[in-house]
Amino acid sequence: MTDPSPLSRDTALALDAADPLRTEGRHGDPADLFDLPDGVVYLDGNSLGALPRAVAPHLARVVGDEWGRGLISSWNDADWINLPARVGAKIAALIGVPSSDVHVGDSTTVLLFKTMVAASRLRPGRRTVVVEPTTFPTDGYVAAGVAELLGLEVRWCDPADPVAALDDDVALLALTHVDFRSGAMYDLPGITAAAHDAGALVQWDLCHSAGAVPVDLAGADADLAVGCTYKYLNGGPGSPAYAYVAERLQGELRQPITGWMGHATPFEMQRDHVPADGVRRMASGTPPVLALSALDAALSVFDDVDPAALRATSLSLTDLFIRLVEARLGDTFEVITPREHARRGSQVSLRHPEAYGVVQALIARGVVGDFRTPDVARFGFAPLYVTHADVWDAVEHLVTVMTGEEHLDPAYRVRNLVT
Ligand SMILES: Cc1ncc(COP(=O)(O)O)c(C=O)c1O
Repeated sequence: MTDPSPLSRDTALALDAADPLRTEGRHGDPADLFDLPDGVVYLDGNSLGALPRAVAPHLARVVGDEWGRGLISSWNDADWINLPARVGAKIAALIGVPSSDVHVGDSTTVLLFKTMVAASRLRPGRRTVVVEPTTFPTDGYVAAGVAELLGLEVRWCDPADPVAALDDDVALLALTHVDFRSGAMYDLPGITAAAHDAGALVQWDLCHSAGAVPVDLAGADADLAVGCTYKYLNGGPGSPAYAYVAERLQGELRQPITGWMGHATPFEMQRDHVPADGVRRMASGTPPVLALSALDAALSVFDDVDPAALRATSLSLTDLFIRLVEARLGDTFEVITPREHARRGSQVSLRHPEAYGVVQALIARGVVGDFRTPDVARFGFAPLYVTHADVWDAVEHLVTVMTGEEHLDPAYRVRNLVT
């Protein structure tokens, strides 16, 4: 164990008191918009976001009034049919694109499939999809499945230099903006421009950035993006995912699951599929109204949020965590998250041979992070509800866990199904 804290808890409290995200919003501290259990330091919003207080009453109204009383007429009267578009417009504001260009529905995995197929069809002479080997597994699995289906080839790139894998055979470069394991962030505008120079399309997976890191897809002239909504967007477990398609590609886009909800006129009940105009052609089946309603209410926590303040708080929290861990436990953990702000998302990952036990011992103390095999403890800093005092408390608990060897408790040798 190295030297004592360079900062006191009072310093962390002072950082919170001076944080514009906590003090300058019209509706006060955004942390008050969340229903978190007392005594818990929740550093897993990069896995499952916390529950916004607005969700339960809104869902109760949708279930009781719209479904219970309105029954089938709520498709029109409560405008359920346009809920994917309304929720898409809210997400669009967080990823820097026009409000009409985001489809919401399906899971991230299914949308990865739809967009990868569609993107490959937009570059018909090219036979290669580039993916990086440390990406979130589902992205690689889907790329391999799409390649098999369409007779393409997957090319695994160097994660440190994906652009080097581009040539005139590459139809699509599929990357995750912020890495789920390390928290490292790619240069989205720079890589997008390089891929365009090589004649390829780029698809960004925004699961670990949107809602914590401001994203400007239109500013980067991005082509396609997908993301989940259950992490920093707080939509709830298994909430629907979203896909962005640049307006300039929408007219030509042909996604493979040509269901009736992506038809130009679903209730004409025609025999042949005619894709809807715009991003609605990404839809396939009936929208999940209850899940979309929960997400709709959850997104209200961003109504009053300045993206620059969100990013500043995120960086300040992760800076503080890295600084405290290095000062107090620098010889125990390796910080694998980049120090440079431009290369960091909103999580910090620590490598340790007993990382699973460390995470379990912390959870027993009310500090919730998670574990990724083989040896990574991940801590997500959702800037809306994690404070500098939380960071200080989490590191204090981590020091106590390591000093008391709590992480070696035999109970932590058995791994849960979900880690
Ligand atoms: C980068 C990334 N993509 C995709 C997923 C998951 O996809 P799905 O929402 O279909 O489970 C995750 C889940 O953590 C992820 O981190």
